[in-house]
Amino acid sequence: MGQTDEFAAGAWKDRQAAGMYKAYFIGAGPGNPDLLTLQGAERLKQSALVFAPEPFETTFATMLAGKEVLIPFDFDFADLVQCIEDRLKSAPVAFLIPGDLTFYSPFQALINHLGEAAEVIPGVGIANAASARLKRTLDLPGVRNRAIIVSPRTLGNEQGMPGLEDLAGKGASLLIYMNNLPLDELCHQLRVGYQADVPIMLVHRLGLPGEEIVRGTLDTIVQTTAGRDYFNLEDPTGKPALTLVIVGETLSSEVDGSWWDYRREHIWKKRPKENG
Ligand SMILES: C[S@@+](CC[C@H](N)C(=O)[O-])C[C@H]1O[C@@H](n2cnc3c(N)ncnc32)[C@H](O)[C@@H]1O
Repeated sequence: MGQTDEFAAGAWKDRQAAGMYKAYFIGAGPGNPDLLTLQGAERLKQSALVFAPEPFETTFATMLAGKEVLIPFDFDFADLVQCIEDRLKSAPVAFLIPGDLTFYSPFQALINHLGEAAEVIPGVGIANAASARLKRTLDLPGVRNRAIIVSPRTLGNEQGMPGLEDLAGKGASLLIYMNNLPLDELCHQLRVGYQADVPIMLVHRLGLPGEEIVRGTLDTIVQTTAGRDYFNLEDPTGKPALTLVIVGETLSSEVDGSWWDYRREHIWKKRPKENG
């Protein structure tokens, strides 16, 4: 029986009776509740206490009505665990995870600690939502051949390890999360790697009020942004901005029917089973 069926069949009520509740780590997408999965919505509905990082407490306000809503980053780890464990005695607890757990999610220590009491619900990652918004696959097999997820914040300075210049290069699309470099410095490093003027987009507050997509190339984007701080670099809290940077030729590459036909012929077409 699948987990959804299990819940439909009333197992949730049994669990409630036995006092065994779970903490749900719900992939909540970029911030627009329309992108919550059905499973995520169901688990959210069951939860009495919801930990919601900004701006989810606002954008999910309708679904959070009547629930207690706390900001997870107001707690240190021990207090957070204590709060969750106390509350799990009487009802499920939910966390709304920006995007979902797949990349750059801060909740792993909590999930490890909770073990069996934690359940993770997949969601629409920021890269998925950006791809849909731009109507572009972020690699383009046979035309561009690598899509690399990276953050200058976490690359580190270890000697001999690849930096942005090494990861950028012909045929690579970079998806840059949590950028903490001034835009001119970021473009400079990328330009060294690409050795060419390639397209770049700043996807800002995707799916949220104030959404903006700023388009340019490595040589023009600084001028296009006219000094606007899309990365919260001037914010004294140093909190990463809700801006995803996408760079690479994939943003401007076009393919036509021959691309489809080639790939159909070599990969997708159903072939008769070989004998033996
Ligand atoms: C901690 S990471 C979260 C990534 C997320 N776990 C995922 O699966 O996509 C936060 C970074 O994701 C990007 N991000 C999150 N929400 C965004 C949004 N609504 N619009 C654009 N970028 C966003 C920004 O680069 C931000 O600094």
